[in-house]
Amino acid sequence: MDGFPNLPLIFNFFPESQGKISWISLGEFPTPIQKLEKLGARLGLNQLYCKRDDLTHSQYGGNKVRKLEFLLAEAKKLNKKFLLTLGAWGSNHILATTFFGKQLGLKTIAIMVPQPAQEYARKNILITYALGCELNYAKINLAVPAKIIKIYLNGLFKREPPYFIWAGGSNPLGTLGYVNAGLEIGEQVKKGILPEPDYIFCAVGSCGTFTGLVLGIKRAGLKSKVLGVRVYEKWASNAKSAYRLGKRALALLKARGAKLSDLKISLSDFLVLHQYAGKGYAHFTKVGVEAMKMAYELEGIKLEGTYTGKALSALIDLAGKNELKNKVALFINSYNSNPIEKIAPVLPDWRELPKEFHHCFLEQILEPEE
Ligand SMILES: Cc1ncc(COP(=O)(O)O)c(C=O)c1O
Repeated sequence: MDGFPNLPLIFNFFPESQGKISWISLGEFPTPIQKLEKLGARLGLNQLYCKRDDLTHSQYGGNKVRKLEFLLAEAKKLNKKFLLTLGAWGSNHILATTFFGKQLGLKTIAIMVPQPAQEYARKNILITYALGCELNYAKINLAVPAKIIKIYLNGLFKREPPYFIWAGGSNPLGTLGYVNAGLEIGEQVKKGILPEPDYIFCAVGSCGTFTGLVLGIKRAGLKSKVLGVRVYEKWASNAKSAYRLGKRALALLKARGAKLSDLKISLSDFLVLHQYAGKGYAHFTKVGVEAMKMAYELEGIKLEGTYTGKALSALIDLAGKNELKNKVALFINSYNSNPIEKIAPVLPDWRELPKEFHHCFLEQILEPEE
């Protein structure tokens, strides 16, 4: 494929959409595939691989980079100056949006909802604030729509309505970033970098990563089953939500000229594993923390407890039940592994944050649960 690695593969597979879908280069692609020899040996798998999406960017990698390449390009095309987005107060997505938005001259306004206190989350909110994000707290999810409307109307009044980015960057446009990742895996299989995976494991929060992968893997012609490991609440992270998002992403591609030919999806393409979420979003589980330790000690791969530790715990569990015997398994490492302190070397004291966020630093950090 000629566009590899400069233009996203999506424009090779859907050439009619080129020029009709905005895109800007932020990251470094394709991300490497690493064979996990030691972890594989420990789990009795001789074909275990990792897609290193933690390395999508030299300063702040992770899954958001792929989505923001499409979303921020559209914001720029629309001459926006502000981005409005949502997430938990320790959100990786809000941090990434603020960081990459700033590089493009866009200021981020965030609406943040509660989550359990965790060290990484505290670091994230301090960095996000240091990078210039405007923080707004919504005590309950139900308060979010009114806050969105208020901030949007305020912007409109000043003739600067913000560009709205859904939580996790998981609207149809952001999802194209992971359609592209699925196509990228297809190319890496074609090049012999890894065998065709039987199973691909990824964390499912706002669904964009998982949904995009399902679409991209299908379009690439692979038979791999993408297993989404739920890490957020069930009402938002489930097969039906992912399927709906998939249909909307395909509709967007079609509306922008893409010929979808035989690319069709059904609900049965979306396989979500619910049993590894523990007590809920950002509640670490013992098996998730154990998975993080194994990945680090055996392979030097840094995971975290909210997303990637839980996703790997599912793979470890299924391997232990002999369900992956003689199979090729690919784990998507969707969490940035670069030292994030570097992107904001001077952090504020937490007391400098707006008052409604002080509790984030006063609450006790919970022990991992069964
Ligand atoms: C590190 C990491 N992995 C996985 C996910 C889940 O991706 P998605 O929200 O697209 O389902 C997120 C989302 O915030 C994330 O930060």
